Amino acid sequence: MRQLAVVVLAAGEGTRMKSSVPKVLHEIAGLPMLGHVLATAHSLSANHVITVLRHDKEKIEQYISQHFPSTEIAVQDEIPGTGRAAEAALSLLSEDFDGDVLILSGDVPLIDVQSISELIERHRDSSALGTLVSCELSNPTGYGRIIRSRGELVGIVEQKDASDDQREIREVNAGVYVFSAKMLRNALAKVTTKNAAGEKYLTDVVGLLIDQGNVQAFQIVDRWLVAGINDRVQLGEVASELNARIVRAWQLAGVTIDEPASTWIDVTVQLGQDVRILPSTRLHGITTVGQGSTIGPDTTLQDCQIGKGAKVTRSVADSVKISDGASVGPFAYLRPGTDLGEQGKIGAFVETKNAKIGAGAKVPHLTYVGDAEIGEGANIGAGTIFANYDGVNKHQTKVGRHARTGSGNVFVAPVTIGDGAYTAAGSTIRRDVEPGAMAMNPVTQKNLADWVLQKRPGSDSAKAAEKGTE
Ligand code: UD1
Ligand code: CA
Repeated sequence: MRQLAVVVLAAGEGTRMKSSVPKVLHEIAGLPMLGHVLATAHSLSANHVITVLRHDKEKIEQYISQHFPSTEIAVQDEIPGTGRAAEAALSLLSEDFDGDVLILSGDVPLIDVQSISELIERHRDSSALGTLVSCELSNPTGYGRIIRSRGELVGIVEQKDASDDQREIREVNAGVYVFSAKMLRNALAKVTTKNAAGEKYLTDVVGLLIDQGNVQAFQIVDRWLVAGINDRVQLGEVASELNARIVRAWQLAGVTIDEPASTWIDVTVQLGQDVRILPSTRLHGITTVGQGSTIGPDTTLQDCQIGKGAKVTRSVADSVKISDGASVGPFAYLRPGTDLGEQGKIGAFVETKNAKIGAGAKVPHLTYVGDAEIGEGANIGAGTIFANYDGVNKHQTKVGRHARTGSGNVFVAPVTIGDGAYTAAGSTIRRDVEPGAMAMNPVTQKNLADWVLQKRPGSDSAKAAEKGTE
């Protein structure tokens, strides 16, 4: 088997993004565009995967070393252009490397393994010196144009260097190529920076190699596979298209998606059979949803594990586990470390953080639960605050199994409410409550007779009170 080196070009400045974030780290469907390209590159069983960096090198290198550590990094010098970037990559290969070099662009994220495999197969079968991917676009503006003479490929002309006639050409260069390593090395040595951009163009090797032998164009019909991202309009378009494809794939896999256009699903998400996603829902990161669960509407989940037959309505959750048959919302805000047991319930206007809530336990209304463990079958009264923060440190609250706590409680942590214990409505619980006890801290209520009539004479309240006392 002939050797293969994959080169990903990512050394450009990305000026058209107008961003402090490196262009190739802008995300689509939850991964930086470079992440999509590197995932593809690493699934080709190549002998080398090399990424070329220069601008924002540290930031990009940090991403690569974290997520694709076996990637080799080549550093481009001050000579600009994709051709110079390719040369930097070749300098990492030994002089006698005699295989093929596949070149991908860090800003062409949807190119897929299947197309690349076909490209390489076509290239090898035709014994070409180089094979490039092209595509017919209705709007080719910005791309290099494929120049043909009597149907035969003769070269590539960049937008900036093209004549008015050449700009009419709709067949464009995708920025994806495979070359014989030796031929590429020789041709690049001859490329100059004499062009409108003053850059060493990789595209110039095509014209040079045609003088020495066979160079092919491999046409791809699906234009999205070759879409390049130079600015944020293109970023938005490609993100929408990829999302539409992800949504469609889940529909075909047995997921009901009520409104595809308002549903966003990252590539890293996993959904079970008969999951239903209601409108305006976003599923991000390593999120999994089990069979038969309903998520949405208006729900955002980041890195969440949702069990089977669960329900999450109009809520926001980050790094949370929801077990089988549990229900959340509407209007819940679940922060990291929330773990809701089977058949448990987190209801309306509830915020949780670092809270383990047992099977069948309920936190139904208007409550903050922070740094707590709530036992199975317990019920937390409406309007309860778990006061976990003393201004310096966070403390833990424990509520026992099948405990019943009254409405409007404050649990001042650290504190433990025993199994099966009760607390009265309006209690502030500062001391531990023994299992089975009823805790209360009654304040004697005083009613000051006729206070309103004396202190607020003539007011609507006073009038109402007078009528009432007649
Ligand atoms: C390039 C092609 C163009 C093609 C288009 C497809 C050239 C000269 N032009 O144009 O024919 O239609 O892609 O999307 O190749 N890069 C480097 N070092 C550099 C400059 C760029 O590594 O000095 C990298 C960039 O980070 C990027 C890729 O190469 O990932 C393409 O560069 P870009 O400037 O976006 O080229 P285009 O103008 O899109
Ligand atoms: Ca580009």
